[in-house]
Amino acid sequence: MAKTPPVDSRTSLDPEDWESLRAQGHRMLDDILDYIEGIRNRPVWQPIPDEVRERFRSELPRTPGPLADVHGEFMRLVLPYATGNVHPGFMGWVHGGGNPAGVLAEILAAGINANLGGRDHAPIEVERQVVHWMRTLFGFPETASGLFVTGTSMANLIAVLVARAATLGTGVRRKGVRASAKRLTAYTSAAAHGCIAQAMDLSGLGVEALRIIPTDDHHRIDIGALTAAIRADRAEGAAPFLVVGTAGTVDIGAIDDLAALAEVAESEKLWFHVDGAFGALAILAPELAPRLVGIERADSLAFDFHKWGQVPYDAGFVLVRDGRMHRNAFAAPAAYLRRETRGLAAGSSWPCDFGPDLSRGFRALKTWFTFKMHGTERIGRAISHNCELAQYLKSRIEAAPELELLAPVQLNIVCFGYRSADANRVNAEIAIALQESGIAAPSTTTIGGRLAIRAAIVNHRTEKRDIASLIPATLALGAERRKSAAA
Ligand SMILES: Cc1ncc(COP(=O)(O)O)c(C=O)c1O
Repeated sequence: MAKTPPVDSRTSLDPEDWESLRAQGHRMLDDILDYIEGIRNRPVWQPIPDEVRERFRSELPRTPGPLADVHGEFMRLVLPYATGNVHPGFMGWVHGGGNPAGVLAEILAAGINANLGGRDHAPIEVERQVVHWMRTLFGFPETASGLFVTGTSMANLIAVLVARAATLGTGVRRKGVRASAKRLTAYTSAAAHGCIAQAMDLSGLGVEALRIIPTDDHHRIDIGALTAAIRADRAEGAAPFLVVGTAGTVDIGAIDDLAALAEVAESEKLWFHVDGAFGALAILAPELAPRLVGIERADSLAFDFHKWGQVPYDAGFVLVRDGRMHRNAFAAPAAYLRRETRGLAAGSSWPCDFGPDLSRGFRALKTWFTFKMHGTERIGRAISHNCELAQYLKSRIEAAPELELLAPVQLNIVCFGYRSADANRVNAEIAIALQESGIAAPSTTTIGGRLAIRAAIVNHRTEKRDIASLIPATLALGAERRKSAAA
């Protein structure tokens, strides 16, 4: 490669010595790949010691320091105290495990430092290709639009804003919701994620305009109760406008009857949104895909590649059936964003016309790499395997008299508890002790007023042995607590 002229180190942030930067970069890459390759030899999670936490209190650096020293600090202070979701024993919340192709793509994305708000460049074409793949995967028409966002919380908010503009007209963007006499009401189930209520709040419609519909025995929205609520609201003069179904509820992984919801939405003329944060990508697993029938009829769909897509954080996504409506809910002319038919300002519409972000990173690249390297079949197999492991965990719980299942196991989430007179306290303590043991990291939730240890199996690295080691660890921790209660 031709030698580049030396940089002025007083003003440029590029190195004077590219060779040593390159060598340091290779060490950093090796270290992070070693971390992933050897992840099983580490505890899933460990608490941050006080002296390490203290190191993050140092002042803003004023003078330059060697990159090797910063890397050393990362290796000592950050890497050992991460959440642990790369580890196969991580089962808390709904965290994906990431994958090496995504890691490497992140380096490339940072290198070209693309801003995907708009303009005419290949990174935008990468994002458009992923949008096209998702349209095809979920059976949406060619006119549907899609957008990478931080996560499903943001994707759900965007969907609510599009539904709001579709119902009230785009004038709502200028006049606000108060200018309309319509009392918009939305519907979702008691098992829906809290970010749906938050989206109602942020959109100015208000949390109280969200009707919480009870669930059936399978934790799915009760369709009869939903239609009764819609009719009662109409009779009272309210204006039902949106129904949100969930594909994979956060607590137990239930999938609403999406086909029935699509019917209700059609006959009641409601916007039909699906929150498929993790469950939507179950469409890649042939035996699970039939449970998502109806998703192809949604007006909008939110999901995350960073969960079951195994793309490194963050990579949320929203798909909207009517791309024109989506654009109308966000696009705003600005002189400094003028579009052209040629040159760098060509290629309109731009992603910034479909959401609130103008500066946007290249989330699409790590997703594109992940899909191109592994293909949908392999990602689908990992999803199927997670669900098989959930069934295995269920069978181990059923075989242990000290343990009880607290919810049906429908997908990849298992909610269980150690039987005890003081079960809520004991199970909260067991979950913390499991995390601190470094063996496994489940989280907790509450099912019907009872605190459950919740194992959400999302990581493609998780194997039977990881599930197997969770059981004796839970039993030992439960027995310890039983003994100390008896003493
Ligand atoms: C059903 C559901 N909806 C929404 C979310 C929020 O997604 P995110 O954390 O990507 O914003 C989650 C997160 O687990 C979820 O499970």
